[in-house]
Amino acid sequence: MLLARPRRNRKSSAIRNLVEETVLRPADLVMPFFVIEGENKQEEIKSLPGVSRLTLDLVLKEAEKLHRQGVPSIAIFPVIDSRYKDEQGTAALHEDGLVIRILQTLKREIPSLCLITDIALDPFTSHGHDGVVDQHGYVMNDPTVEILCKMASLFGAAGADIVAPSDMMDGRIGAIRRQLDLAGQQEVGILSYTAKYASSLYGPFREAVGSTLKFGDKKTYQMNPANSREAVRQAVLDAQQGADILMVKPALYYLDIITKIKEKVHLPLCAYHVSGEYAMVMAAHENGWLDGPKVFHEALLSIKRAGADFIFSYAIPKVLPLLELKPF
Ligand code: PBG
Repeated sequence: MLLARPRRNRKSSAIRNLVEETVLRPADLVMPFFVIEGENKQEEIKSLPGVSRLTLDLVLKEAEKLHRQGVPSIAIFPVIDSRYKDEQGTAALHEDGLVIRILQTLKREIPSLCLITDIALDPFTSHGHDGVVDQHGYVMNDPTVEILCKMASLFGAAGADIVAPSDMMDGRIGAIRRQLDLAGQQEVGILSYTAKYASSLYGPFREAVGSTLKFGDKKTYQMNPANSREAVRQAVLDAQQGADILMVKPALYYLDIITKIKEKVHLPLCAYHVSGEYAMVMAAHENGWLDGPKVFHEALLSIKRAGADFIFSYAIPKVLPLLELKPF
């Protein structure tokens, strides 16, 4: 029998390029931003080296630069002063709140940039949970959904192209869709954090937003990392309720979930390469143990190869230079 020689297809970078199956493009990326009140201020986040909380003017600059480099979209996470936080997260519905002002300004200044806003109460609640809690600390589903609907409509009116419920309450996708349609916001899309796991990888994000939990955990609403059929069930439900796009989160430990949902539900699918996934690589990079940008490139490529159409990641500025066209 003839010896098979797969190495022939790896002989030169020209041939390798020809047979390359997955391509990562700037157009596949969504950059998250942590936004604070004020002007021309930047606060480092210890557990996210290279990522800062920024005031709106600086977000505008950074977002413009990324957009020029081909990044189509950003995700907005407000950092709310603890003075404005309470048990109900009422600041989420302030008509002149931080998120509203960010959306209005960015939509005006960079109209072609796709703006995605998180819909959940954790940046606004004093306890850090994603919804309102009863006297036992249990997050109440339907009262939370009611608030999320109002939030989605407020943010839609302020300029959000896509609202992204990250709370994992039951029925929120259908309820938000109805609310948006009633308000004449048929064009506002819904990206559902469909398979959001109760992961230990969100720590740096919670430090960044100041939403570290005061009690309990999120296991009564976020999913058990041991389960995958449950993710497909959740994805089917979200699709039936009118989601436009689905998300798996975190990304790298959940590549099997990405592949499964991609096979079963025919909606665009994205993944969130989360704060802990970024922090681990940065720690190794700073110790000289790993080449951060190259590892990030491999990570994002793997997430795409598994089936994600696009990816949220803090590593975008580190990966973009590696995506530039190189001569052979
Ligand atoms: C809030 C939310 C979280 C993340 C995105 N939206 C944290 C959480 O659920 O506690 C995490 C993102 C990251 O770790 O980068 N609902």
